[in-house]
Amino acid sequence: MEHQINSWEEYEKVYAESVANPEAFWANVAESFSWKKKWDNVLSWNFDGPDVKWFEGAELNITENCLDRHLAERGDQTAIIWEPNGPKTPEIRLTYKELHAKVCQMANVLKSYGVVKGDRVCLYMPMIPELAIATLACARIGAIHSVVFAGFSANALADRINDAQAKVVLTADGSLRGAKVIPLKDIADEALSHCPCVETVLVAKRSDKFCHMQAGRDVWLGEAMDAASTDCPAETMSAEDMLFILYTSGSTGKPKGVVHTTAGYMVYAYYSFVNVFQYQQNDIYWCTADIGWITGHTYIVYGPLLAGASSVMFEGVPTWPDAGRFWAICDKYQVNQFYTAPTAIRALMAKGLEYVAPYRLNSLKVLGSVGEPINEEAWQWYNKYIGKNQCPIVDTWWQTETGGIMISPLPNITPLKPTYATRPLPGIQPCLLDAEGNELAENDVEGLLAVKFPWPSMLRTTYGDHDRCKQVYFSMFKDKYFTGDGAKRDADGNYRIIGRVDDVINVSGHRLGTAELENVINEHDIIVESAVVGYPHEIKGQGIFAFVIVQEACSQEALEAELKELINTEIGPIAKPDRIQVVSGLPKTRSGKIMRRILRKIASGDVSNLGDTSTLLDPSVVEEIKEAVLGTA
Ligand code: WTA
Repeated sequence: MEHQINSWEEYEKVYAESVANPEAFWANVAESFSWKKKWDNVLSWNFDGPDVKWFEGAELNITENCLDRHLAERGDQTAIIWEPNGPKTPEIRLTYKELHAKVCQMANVLKSYGVVKGDRVCLYMPMIPELAIATLACARIGAIHSVVFAGFSANALADRINDAQAKVVLTADGSLRGAKVIPLKDIADEALSHCPCVETVLVAKRSDKFCHMQAGRDVWLGEAMDAASTDCPAETMSAEDMLFILYTSGSTGKPKGVVHTTAGYMVYAYYSFVNVFQYQQNDIYWCTADIGWITGHTYIVYGPLLAGASSVMFEGVPTWPDAGRFWAICDKYQVNQFYTAPTAIRALMAKGLEYVAPYRLNSLKVLGSVGEPINEEAWQWYNKYIGKNQCPIVDTWWQTETGGIMISPLPNITPLKPTYATRPLPGIQPCLLDAEGNELAENDVEGLLAVKFPWPSMLRTTYGDHDRCKQVYFSMFKDKYFTGDGAKRDADGNYRIIGRVDDVINVSGHRLGTAELENVINEHDIIVESAVVGYPHEIKGQGIFAFVIVQEACSQEALEAELKELINTEIGPIAKPDRIQVVSGLPKTRSGKIMRRILRKIASGDVSNLGDTSTLLDPSVVEEIKEAVLGTA
């Protein structure tokens, strides 16, 4: 594969070049794509705006690079293998030719409902082929896709549709998740009653469930596609035209729409994919993420297709019909690169080796991890029982905002160190800062993780609110992108990500803002005030611990049920608190700020060193909370 690094010496050389002359480096990578018009200028930037432009003046369409470009050489090669929820249901294989035809058909359907370049289209769909096709169909005609994970509730969906002012929504009648069928269209309908901007709803058929179709608004997607032409010219896009919006939680307020643009995202999605997974022609690659998250965008849809890869897309869940499902699929397709999240590894690890034993895993060459820090125990298990000590594990650190993997070993190239994401990819210039923003230039240090130079797939703005982008990412430290993570760099220059340093918690690899959770909890009549923190959770990485003050005495059971239900309707099941503790007060400073540090410690069961509590308004609440949570004062 073009631009693939093959040795440690080459990595060091390429990395040095990429820092010494980033423009020449990225221009060289960009040369291998198909452009309608090449760029005038590789990069212009300032982090004050922020205002970052890559490949300005260039014109292209990313789907020509994902699809058309491959047709002559590998039109009949499998692009996507879709593995359905039920192991007995036959899979679907789409060749590059077939995928191209379907993308064109869906693009023509979108056009026929008035979607034009620049319009926003919301995709609220299960992991069915239509979801991958829809992202590309949007890109084909220059519409901006906003994929909303199908586990989000109606209210969360409505917020995202309205924020982006989406004109069209794609959904399905139902979503199959293990033994469950989720009535996706019903949820979408509930959301849509609050979304006057939506003109058309295209509905894919996936279940036998009846679903209501609103005349004049709702259309069956399959029928419309069958009637559409398989030819759809690709819209000419400028390098910096928006490709997609993806909502993610931050430490304050509502989720924000992270915006990625066309050319830079394309170049980096390809470059990071071929290097981190060392994909070789004819390999079978599988990323278990959902396309509703950034991992699915970059490493199920765009990266693999840009590389002409064959990639597996899985509809179901890892534990159904049993905890061997992932390994059965690896065996079935003889998967070569497997990319998943630590939470899945821990969950499967807990089920025992009898679920691994029946399957042939000898095709595996590379194992990947993403979404949260991978603990040593899970790393060792993954290495020993899945990789059979033969497969390098790439612990990939990145974010929705970074668009692609930033820090990761290159398999069989970078010396591995369990729990370390190791080295930055070429073109990525991370740094560690102290609280004042001074760079910690030496090795063997710990600090706040930032990036000091632009990379092609970085976010450009937050949709509809550029100032928020500036405030959240570029104001904390001058001329640096701040990640929100803390990290450590060892004596050899390897990075280990410690976790978020802001009020964001990472539950099973999903980002949730504590403020967002508190806002929902506070909506309940009986709640006076609440504080939410994360605490170590064996399977989820972090669990959600809610401390609440109630207006009047109530049964713990009823309170828990009601708060969980509330969170379920406002955000979705992923955000349900694991523990709810009624308290009579919260530890606050004299200026009224909740000292979450103390709550985090108590929630984690570690009260050995609560630090200085003398600045608290009422230090006695700490004793009370300790006793309530741990049973001892
Ligand atoms: C965390 C997911 C440790 C981190 C691609 C980051 C990680 C947040 C790792 C982004 C890793 C992601 N090791 N922590 N390998 N990968 N994170 O936007 O806290 O859903 O800031 O993107 O996940 O989550 P997001």
